[in-house]
Amino acid sequence: MKVLVIGGGAREHALCRSLSLDPDVNALYCAPGNAGIAEVAELRPVDPLDGAAVARLATELRADLVVVGPEAPLVAGVADSVRAARIPVFGPSGEAARLEGSKAFAKDVMAGAGVPTARSYVCTTPDEVDEALDAFGAPYVVKDDGLAAGKGVVVTEDRAAARAHALSCDRVVIEEFLDGPEVSLFAITDGVTVLPLQPAQDFKRALDGDAGPNTGGMGAYSPLPWADPKLVDEVMASVLQPTVDELRRRGTPFSGLLYAGLAITSRGVRVIEFNARFGDPETQVVLARLRTPLASVLLNSANGTLDAQAPLVWREDAAVTVVIASHNYPETPRTGDPITGLADVAEQDAPYAYVLHAGTRSEGDAVVSAGGRVLSVTATGSDLAQARERAYKAVARIGLDGSQYRTDIAAKAAEHR
Ligand code: AMP
Ligand code: GLY
Repeated sequence: MKVLVIGGGAREHALCRSLSLDPDVNALYCAPGNAGIAEVAELRPVDPLDGAAVARLATELRADLVVVGPEAPLVAGVADSVRAARIPVFGPSGEAARLEGSKAFAKDVMAGAGVPTARSYVCTTPDEVDEALDAFGAPYVVKDDGLAAGKGVVVTEDRAAARAHALSCDRVVIEEFLDGPEVSLFAITDGVTVLPLQPAQDFKRALDGDAGPNTGGMGAYSPLPWADPKLVDEVMASVLQPTVDELRRRGTPFSGLLYAGLAITSRGVRVIEFNARFGDPETQVVLARLRTPLASVLLNSANGTLDAQAPLVWREDAAVTVVIASHNYPETPRTGDPITGLADVAEQDAPYAYVLHAGTRSEGDAVVSAGGRVLSVTATGSDLAQARERAYKAVARIGLDGSQYRTDIAAKAAEHR
């Protein structure tokens, strides 16, 4: 099978790594990719937002499957262009991807499907904003209605800051604060059949102890030793299947990866957000644990044959990933800094720990930073403590001027706290 992956972050590196290990895959391309992905896939230049260009590339390469990684191309309808060229594609239509592209649309779908989520108001005027802030009280949760790469959400006790963020958005969703731990649960679907993956936990805040601003995600781990073993079944029944059924009922069937961001509150599971693609960095740890070869699972979603998919098989291992981010991430990340130590990790820590590239590019013989999140250092172990130790040992070998990472990824879970 010839597979073309669209995107160039750590999620796409994780996808390409798994696909490169799949015996069914005999040619693997990634467009545009990054310096790390170049080691497992052949890179092609493409504007990932240009559906016609992506479809042309897939046709030229005679791809049997196109996997669209990030949300922006999905929301822009890139999967539709590829489908129109009669090439199987893993990823939802632009219409269905509005589940991620518009928080207000997601709320509407959840209301229709009876999916539990935070109560919310959609506001477009200062008066509506004030009314909503006062209705819920602190802590305030204010979300830009559009795509914002994980940075459009402000959660704060400070009413003035909440109001300022709300007024900086055209359309804003203001909602009830949900307490309790967060879980990311992914499901692969073809629009009818839903196949859940293993849950993971992401660390959204920039700094240790969940301090600092929200980011795209600073680290993740799986499995979740503290979670109720019935969690996946419960979320399947109350969230994932009803959402997929509701989107089909509306005439916008969702195929691809449905990402449920959940809060486990004292009153039960609530959806914080949906995404229409694999999460980053959670994918790095989920795929590290998946034993079933990936390509045929994605192809079954693309072809609408997921009902024929054999049950997924998981490793007993635990996995941890730690994101190394640029100086000044998430505000104004500095790029162009040389990265050292990559060969040391490959020589001394493989196969238990490895570096997935998020924002990197090659500059002559050097690899330099090219984004806010630069690397996602991933490790497996017999338990979270061992995976964590291996991940941080590898992180310590990496040099990147001014970089930052959290030191507490999976720390509580590893200690059964
Ligand atoms: P989102 O982009 O919707 O996932 O929001 C980013 C982060 O903001 C989430 O991972 C949560 O940590 C936090 N957040 C979002 N919505 C809520 C809520 N209703 N209550 C508490 N925290 C929230
Ligand atoms: N890790 C959060 C996300 O992928 O949106």
